[in-house]
Amino acid sequence: DDEVSRISEIIDHCRSMEGPMLPILHKVQEEFGFIPESAKQIIANALNLSRAEVHGVVSFYHDFRAQPAGRHVLKLCRAEACQSMGGEPLADRIKAELGIDWHETTSDGAVTLEPVYCLGLCAQAPAAMLDGDLHARIDEHCLADILAEVRT
Ligand code: FES
Repeated sequence: DDEVSRISEIIDHCRSMEGPMLPILHKVQEEFGFIPESAKQIIANALNLSRAEVHGVVSFYHDFRAQPAGRHVLKLCRAEACQSMGGEPLADRIKAELGIDWHETTSDGAVTLEPVYCLGLCAQAPAAMLDGDLHARIDEHCLADILAEVRT
């Protein structure tokens, strides 16, 4: 079907690369917004791997999604510097406000919450990224702005 042929095209495009698995997965996610379950077997066949091996790579990298994301994607840093600056209570608060856990999307499809491991803003922790824009030193005020934005 259509999904299979789009995945096959991506594979054909990338298969001559050295280490084609990650480029293929990135392109599949770009195309579909997530990694469809069916893609794992197709990629495995093409690269002479088992489905479990492809699944292992997909689950190892936090960038790959199992479902489509919401309209907004909020990534919160969970690495050390941000943890030491209140990253965990901040994350708990956001989860409670949105009513979702890591990797989940609010029921209205507005926002997906994802962990990220260092955004390069360690000196300005805690940090987050909303739809590709970086936010540093997240305080009450900044949090209110972020929550207002993701609800639109
Ligand atoms: Fe959070 Fe580096 S640890 S930005």
